[in-house]
Amino acid sequence: MSQTVEMEKIVAFCKRRGFVYQSSEIYGGIRSSYDYGPLGVEMKRNIKEEWWRRVVHMRDDVVGIDAAIIMHPRVWEASGHVAGFNDMLVESRTSGRRYRADHLIEDATGGDVEGLPPEKLTEIIQTDDRIKDPLDGGRDFAPVRPFNLMFETYTGPVKSPENVAYLRPETAQGIFANFKNVLQTSRVKVPFGIAQIGKSFRNEITPGNFIFRTREFEQMEMEFFVKPGTDAEWHEYWIEERFNWYLSLGLKEENLRKREQTDDERAHYATRGVDIEYNFPFGGWSELEGIANRTDYDLNKHQEFSGENLSYFDQATGESYVPYVVEPAVGADRIMLAFLVDAYTEEEVRGEERTVLKLHPRIAPIKAAVFPLSKKKPVSTAAKQLYDDLKGDYRLFYDDSGSIGRRYRRQDEAGTPFCVTVDFDTLDDKKVTIRNRDTMEQERIPLEAVQERLKALISG
Ligand code: GAP
Repeated sequence: MSQTVEMEKIVAFCKRRGFVYQSSEIYGGIRSSYDYGPLGVEMKRNIKEEWWRRVVHMRDDVVGIDAAIIMHPRVWEASGHVAGFNDMLVESRTSGRRYRADHLIEDATGGDVEGLPPEKLTEIIQTDDRIKDPLDGGRDFAPVRPFNLMFETYTGPVKSPENVAYLRPETAQGIFANFKNVLQTSRVKVPFGIAQIGKSFRNEITPGNFIFRTREFEQMEMEFFVKPGTDAEWHEYWIEERFNWYLSLGLKEENLRKREQTDDERAHYATRGVDIEYNFPFGGWSELEGIANRTDYDLNKHQEFSGENLSYFDQATGESYVPYVVEPAVGADRIMLAFLVDAYTEEEVRGEERTVLKLHPRIAPIKAAVFPLSKKKPVSTAAKQLYDDLKGDYRLFYDDSGSIGRRYRRQDEAGTPFCVTVDFDTLDDKKVTIRNRDTMEQERIPLEAVQERLKALISG
């Protein structure tokens, strides 16, 4: 069912249920910016928590950092972003619209033009009649030119060239720039990783597909430093580890695949790159996560530009070397879209239509809802007491309005995996009913067992 869901439906659903809103909507909205509502913020937090749990807390070879968004501009010279973090831009002279040249060509011809220089792209656009301005069908295009995706700003009150700074376009460089700090202040030994979650910014020419590609987004990246020569093996390890993470959180296996990056799309310094892709109902197979073998490129560059020694001294062997890096990099917003699309289900059960978000309990924004069968005391008092006893560990929801059926439907849509109902019998037998969102089956268990039972059910 989720394979047929259209983007418009997901966007409308996200707004109606308070997952994602268009940013600045009361002013007409701003393209490509989205705000997360009460359910969306919980879900995105859960995604980030789960990533951190698996990549940092469950391991003893990865530590975390939280670097600044505005870094020294030399960082971006060293990383190659100032000179080369470009998309190829083409302007239509008939409509004045600007497009990504590769998208324009690929959409019209189906061919792959990734990595081609601007002159070659210009030639293709000007000679292939199939390529038209999507807005007005025009075929008068200016020459293709590179467009740097970094957002520029100024530090301090004077807007002069020496005060130019950038909003980071990836979190990775904050990790490389802190490599020496982490080495000196924590007891890490190669192989080890440094993880970071945070906002990144790219002035995308054609953002789109809702929260799939935006100008401001959140990345979850980890740089895993290894001894040269062991990098290929570690790369393989991280591809499997990351793929399995999606499966462990319930993404349907048939919607996931690994894809080798081609020579053209891979960064010039990377020896191998593998994308984990999701089969979106709009746009088809698209990148969720990239796992790259970045070699010693970044540390070498920072060593060169900063003059600091960024090599690692292996006390066991007495060797000194610049480590190689394996990097799994993913966007939290993008995988949230994949989780939403994958979970969104419209089904008919016992003659009734329902919309249900079949999210893994760990990802679900609300883990459990508590319903008193009656708004009146003493049932409501018992329900409120249970709610107060349970709250604190995760998001709970208390709902005493409408029929029980309607309350279930509301929670099904929100993706709440468990609903606990306190009824008249509870007062005598001290038991409550837990209803499962997906199977709709109910079990009756003692009040004092609810906390433990929910804990077991949620951890899946
Ligand atoms: N440090 C490597 C790096 O940043 P990337 O492939 O450019 O690699 C990694 O980005 C991930 O970040 C992507 O796989 C995607 O999930 C996410 N991402 C990149 N650009 C994005 C955008 N404009 N909007 C949302 N997510 C984005």
